[in-house]
Amino acid sequence: MLPTVEWQGDVVVMVDQRKLPAQEVYVRCRSAAEVAKAIRTMVIRGAPAIGVAAAMGLALGVRKSTAKGTRQLTVEFNKMCDVMAATRPTAVNLFWAVNRMKHAFAVGAQAGESPAELARRLEDEARHIHDEDVESCRAMGAYGAALVPEGARILTHCNAGALATAGYGSALGVVRAAAEQGKRIAVFADETRPFLQGARLTAWELLRDGIETTVITESMAGPIMRAGDVDLVVVGADRIAANGDVANKIGTYTVAVLAHEHQLPFYVAAPVSTIDLDTPDGDGIPIEERDAREVTHFRGLQVTPDGAGIRNPAFDVTPHRYVTAIITERGVCRPPYTESLAAAVRGAATPC
Ligand code: MRU
Repeated sequence: MLPTVEWQGDVVVMVDQRKLPAQEVYVRCRSAAEVAKAIRTMVIRGAPAIGVAAAMGLALGVRKSTAKGTRQLTVEFNKMCDVMAATRPTAVNLFWAVNRMKHAFAVGAQAGESPAELARRLEDEARHIHDEDVESCRAMGAYGAALVPEGARILTHCNAGALATAGYGSALGVVRAAAEQGKRIAVFADETRPFLQGARLTAWELLRDGIETTVITESMAGPIMRAGDVDLVVVGADRIAANGDVANKIGTYTVAVLAHEHQLPFYVAAPVSTIDLDTPDGDGIPIEERDAREVTHFRGLQVTPDGAGIRNPAFDVTPHRYVTAIITERGVCRPPYTESLAAAVRGAATPC
């Protein structure tokens, strides 16, 4: 399986996703600040992967700290948490992971642990977050594969694969699990402008696993559905509001509306760490606006005229009415999502 992000001794190592598939280069982060920078600059991306990296970064920061005692370490740790939380606003997994690390720190500090003991505690917590994410992906895969018919042609958007998680993937976990069950499947990977997560990362991952993959630009999704060449859509999510509205990579909303028009199932696969019950609906989800240069330039070459206005929201919100089901590691949630998502977060074995 792909090593998306790994703890190695006293460094956090991650494959540089900006360079794939042309180059397989690994970035070695030696401090919490370096991990935060890697998240901000998209060395690592994808909601669950960001959460795992942030947890490892905080553990690393505490381990490298030269604070004399727990009081000084607490001040430093809180600053690290703020820096980590300011990297990207939309994926709630980041804040979920930071809060888990804060909780672990508070438990250790209350028990009177030394800085070295706190460092070990946080390292253990980060490893748990990593390992739980892989397990969640496997479970989502098992639940989701049951929804994939033999011979299915699956359309996906962005990259919700091993690279976007600690391993195996959420949406691509469903694809992988169906393939592992011996189902004959084929994937359409939306290119996913402007960062090309679909063309570069999804296609690369799936081809490594020997899964038939066709890359299309997002503008091709409609005609391909109309031609009857797609059986279902499965995507990941960055944040799911309590009512089932789904924030995911920009362009997902368009795909969902197209799927609805063509009466195709539109599935979202995401761990419960992506569900944000504190946000009632999609209007409350903060949408990251990224650098205009991602749109104005391609590989350093300017592709738009000077003076053109540019928008670059990195995510959009798909209203829950377009979502057929949400596949979590605790079961498949169906409408009404206000009930089924709350049950999944509470830990119900099968929300629906
Ligand atoms: O900007 P990115 O590449 O971090 O956006 C990633 C996505 O939108 C993914 O679809 C989402 O995080 C789900 S990953 C399992």
